[in-house]
Parts: sequence; C-alpha cells; structure tokens
Amino acid sequence: MSGRVLHSDYMYWAKNQAPVRYHLASSEVPHFAMSQWAIDPAALELDGASRYRYPPLREAIARRTGVTADRVVMADGTSMANMLAMAGLIAPGDEVLAEHPVYEPLVAAARFLGAEVRHFARRGPVFALDPDAVKAALTPRTKLIILTNLHNPTGSLADTETMRAIGALGVRVLVDEVYLDAAPGERTAASLGDAFVCTSSLTKVYGLSGLRCGWILAEPVLAERLWRLNELFGVAQGHASERLSLMALQRLDEVAGETPALLARNRALANAFFAGRDELEVAPMVHNVTCFPRLKRGDVDALNLRLRADHDTSIVPGRFFGLADHFRLGVGGPTEMVQGGLDRLGRALDTVA
Ligand SMILES: Cc1ncc(COP(=O)(O)O)c(C=O)c1O
Repeated sequence: MSGRVLHSDYMYWAKNQAPVRYHLASSEVPHFAMSQWAIDPAALELDGASRYRYPPLREAIARRTGVTADRVVMADGTSMANMLAMAGLIAPGDEVLAEHPVYEPLVAAARFLGAEVRHFARRGPVFALDPDAVKAALTPRTKLIILTNLHNPTGSLADTETMRAIGALGVRVLVDEVYLDAAPGERTAASLGDAFVCTSSLTKVYGLSGLRCGWILAEPVLAERLWRLNELFGVAQGHASERLSLMALQRLDEVAGETPALLARNRALANAFFAGRDELEVAPMVHNVTCFPRLKRGDVDALNLRLRADHDTSIVPGRFFGLADHFRLGVGGPTEMVQGGLDRLGRALDTVA
C-alpha cells in the first residue's frame, strides 16, 4: 500500500458528481450567508498583507481553541493544515498508522509524502477509538498516528480519557478535528499535551468552507517549523479571506446560529428512520454530522446508482473509506431536504436490499 500518490480518488469523485436535490452525501451544514453582514469594502483592504502571520487572526484562533498563539499555524483549510503538518512530520520511508475506516485524503497525503501507511481497525457499528487497538498496531518504526475526531465517516466521538491514553503511547498523534465543534463542550486534544498536533477549520460546522480558514495547533517549536515550511508552499493566506475569517471568529456563535438545533432535529429524523430499517446496521447519531450505516444485504454501489437515477438523492459509497458494504450519510442540510432524502433512501432500500 506504499508508493507516491498524486491524487485523492475520493475528492475527485466528490467534486465531480452531478448535483442532486437530496444531497445526503454532504458532510457540511448550509453555507453561512455573508450578505447577513454589512461589510464595508474598506474592512477588506489588502494593506495588512505584509503583516507577517496576521497576528489578529492567529490570536483569535488561539482564543477560540484555548491554546497560546505561539502554538497556532494558519493554513488553507484543514486540508492544507493536514498536508503541512504531515510534511513537517513525515520523511519518505516513514511508517504511519492510520485509523480504518479512514478519510482517504489524509492517507493519500501521507502516501504522497512517501510514507508507508498501516492501519488499525475501528469496529462497527459504534467505531469507537480503542487505545489498545492503536497500541497493538504500533511498530518501532511508527512515526505518526493519524486520527479524526469526530471520526469521518462514522461521527464517533473519542473522549478525553481515550485521547489521553493514545497521547501516552510515545508517538506523535495527528488529530483532524474539523467536526469536533459539532459535539458541544469538547476541547481540542492539543490541550492534552505536546504529543498532539491538531488540525481544523471553519468549514464543516460553520458553513464557511469558502474562506479556507484552517489551522494547526502544535507545540511551539514544531509550530515555528511548520510556519517556515509553509513559506515553501503557500507563503501566506489570501489576506481578504484572513480578514473575513477574523470577523467570523469574533462572531462565531452568531455564525453557528441555528445549526446546533438543525443538526439535533435532523439526527432525530435519521435515528427514527434507522430504527425502522432492518436492512441497515448503524449506531444512533449523537453529536455528529455524518453516520456510516452497513447495508446488511445488497450492494452499496447498486443502491447509490438507484438513488441517483430514480430518486435524485446522493450518498457516499463506503469503499471510499475502505468499507464497501457501508455508506456515509450526512444530515447537515436543511431539514426538509434531509427528510426528503431519507424517504427516498427508504424507497430505494425497498427495491435494492
Ligand atoms: C476529516 C476531514 N478533514 C478535512 C476536510 C476538509 O476540510 P477543509 O474544507 O477545512 O479543508 C474534510 C472534508 O470533508 C474532512 O472530512
């Protein structure tokens, strides 16, 4: 499974699917409407572009995440944050240990950097993170452990005790926390010690993917190394975007708005739907945007084709995460859309499963 990889199969697939009306393939909440803010164009002046590492945004991210500013590195979305963190931590030939099922772009990035990727299993239907499973899969060559919390695709939450146990294994841990704010009260693993390198952005839970406001939280020496490394990549973020990101961070509760209520409503709908579908196995949704049902009988790709062709509805086949008899379903959309999609999924299951 090693070798240089120059693309992400999942991302290419996700970006090239024809649009549908009932978009259960998405893992985002509705986009925030910037028109709600009367923004004076003067507030987007580019004269701050020369302000190295744009301190106001760096400090706002530090305040929001509860770390000191010298631990914050900005990057274009969680995606570039992951790539940058790995580029600073992995050398060709290094071994990394990633969860399975896995968000494929994470391991594609590690492979691009020349890493040999091994996996440990998270077992369904709950897909809890088990520190013993991580420990058992470590080898003396393991350079980095790669996790998501909440887990993409399943939405499973790893609690503080679990993360602490993994942080004590003596290996650096990269945690992609782009969904973590969907679980109220959870804190970044970066607050648990210097073993952790955590990434996130304003993409998933705040509907601000277009800003590409991402970050890495790391111990200060590593953070400085990553800033310097980014001078080989993007050099700096788009400054207008940095300014808008700062505004968003200063009003994040307003940006989140009704999203927590929307997610709670939609999860309840999904859970009620699952309770009546014997052909699916899935843990009830608790704090997540996505879940990952197993189709007990039948073929997921056939289900996906039927949903698209006959029901104007999309899901993500589980093969993109490494489990072909599962599929990912997102409930971040408007409630009528999610309900409509679940109704149609039910009809498709009646004919396919
Ligand atoms: C685990 C995970 N990380 C990162 C991303 C991309 O986030 P961003 O838009 O912040 O780059 C996604 C998007 O699906 C994701 O699921």
